[in-house]
Amino acid sequence: MTSEVVAAASVPVPGRAQRVREIATDLRGLRGALIPILHAIQEELEYVDQGDIPVVADVLNLAVAEVHGVVTFYKDFRRTPAGRTTVAICQAEACRSVGAVELAEHAKRTTGCGLGETTYDGRLTLDEVFCFGNCALGPAVQVSGKLHGRVTPARLDAILGEPR
Ligand code: FES
Repeated sequence: MTSEVVAAASVPVPGRAQRVREIATDLRGLRGALIPILHAIQEELEYVDQGDIPVVADVLNLAVAEVHGVVTFYKDFRRTPAGRTTVAICQAEACRSVGAVELAEHAKRTTGCGLGETTYDGRLTLDEVFCFGNCALGPAVQVSGKLHGRVTPARLDAILGEPR
């Protein structure tokens, strides 16, 4: 981790616990409900906060440690709010064979972020993803939800320089 990056402390959001309880209650009838509930929380509330864990555990009648274990095991679950711009670089085999590793190194150098980290000012989050299904056009990068193909370091710099 560079000095520019910190783990953002989560700030309690009014009404969040109530909304998490509603989401968990709505989905608890699903088979293997825990994962879909966590995905739904992340989709609607951006990340899975530490404070969400006991609420979900209570609704599903699970141990807090069990829910915590799942949240921390799966890299899919973001534990802090994402930056205003999110950059996800594919690191699966097809993209690696055409320069995705070097692209990720370039992105780390220029943003000051490691993979899975957010800049201290909340400007940008850098992540790795394992295949967008865009393998013929690697290296593939998703910037704030928009997928780009054949991304070189120079092209990534240009994309990040565009107004968003
Ligand atoms: S391997 Fe990168 S998009 Fe499939």
